[in-house]
Amino acid sequence: MRWCYLAPYTLAIMDSSLAPSLTILGIESSCDDTAAAVVRSVQGQPAEILSSEVFGQTDLHANFGGVVPEIAARAHAEKLDHMVEAALANAKLTLQDMDAIAVTAGPGLIGGVMSGVMCAKGLAAGSGKPLIGVNHLAGHALTPRLTDGLDFPYLMLLVSGGHCQFLVAHGPTKFTRLGGTIDDAPGEAFDKVAKLLGLPQPGGPSIEQAALKGDAGRFTLPRPLRDRDDCDMSFSGLKTATLRARDALVAQQGGLYKKDQNDLSAGFQDAVADVLATKTRRALGSSKVPAIAVAGGVAANKTIRAALEAVAQEACVSFIAPPMALCTDNAAMIAWAGIERFRLGLTDDMTLAARPRWPLDDTATPMLGSGKKGAKA
Ligand code: KG4
Ligand code: ZN
Repeated sequence: MRWCYLAPYTLAIMDSSLAPSLTILGIESSCDDTAAAVVRSVQGQPAEILSSEVFGQTDLHANFGGVVPEIAARAHAEKLDHMVEAALANAKLTLQDMDAIAVTAGPGLIGGVMSGVMCAKGLAAGSGKPLIGVNHLAGHALTPRLTDGLDFPYLMLLVSGGHCQFLVAHGPTKFTRLGGTIDDAPGEAFDKVAKLLGLPQPGGPSIEQAALKGDAGRFTLPRPLRDRDDCDMSFSGLKTATLRARDALVAQQGGLYKKDQNDLSAGFQDAVADVLATKTRRALGSSKVPAIAVAGGVAANKTIRAALEAVAQEACVSFIAPPMALCTDNAAMIAWAGIERFRLGLTDDMTLAARPRWPLDDTATPMLGSGKKGAKA
């Protein structure tokens, strides 16, 4: 698909809050997934994902031990129009059938976010459709409303390779951050620990697999910040402690046996689950909301998921875990967040800027550190 910039850009005038049916194209390119999706929302009915296309860049970055921003940005620029074309074709609709175009405008790797924003601006200008800039974290945080029609307020735990934070969602644009990691995101720690144990990437699934045969009690690994009376977390010290335990074994016996890999994996996974469960208990205690939802690749981990579900049960709140394809980066969540914004009458114009950092709760103290998969916010 090719488009050209038509000036002057005109915004469609309509009262979007009253529209009975909205169909929005979503575009996501903030990290290493190039995605486009079409979502339809009819007032009073569950939303429908008409298409959701994701091109994952894992193979492009495999040799570099992390996402290379320049490679990611170039791949997004090359793939975006194909993803948009596929999303429209699979929804059996055209650009003219869209009510608006929603795009991730941050936070994330700036080159990728810019590719998406430029693409969306081109489409909006060419079609005369409204443009909506969406916060990527809001996309994740609003997903339980797309999948389960969850009502506000609720607690959201984002746990992925780039994010780790507790948010209370009060409304489509109102979030309170209760805490988050001050260093590595948990997925990042899983990936680094897998690497130091000689397990394949992505580290989360391989550690989970190894841990199945492991003895979590053999190594005493730390639970950083677990007992501090807040919702902040830290996973960097746990990673270093696992490295030290590995080094001690290597010095003692000249290498690692399979059993050592399994036991260290189980010990590490248990420590992460313990920290996340304890902090979730605290976050539920302070927020007093009736539900908790999770999102992010780490939420796929069965031990972690079970630990969080047990905390929810103990606190008598509902536990919502959207399907994995909607927990990880995708454009359906961006289209949905766009629908939520559009219903509030919130649209953007051609001055919409790509933002590497964009905290959902700008009253919260900024978090430290920056994950391998992009800037935290
Ligand atoms: O949300 P996601 O797909 O992507 C971004 O972070 O952008 O999360 C990927 C992260 C990786 O670090 C991966 O190791 C981790 O989620 N992950 C897991 C599991 N599956 C994926 N971590 C623990 N257990 C898993 N089963
Ligand atoms: Zn994400």
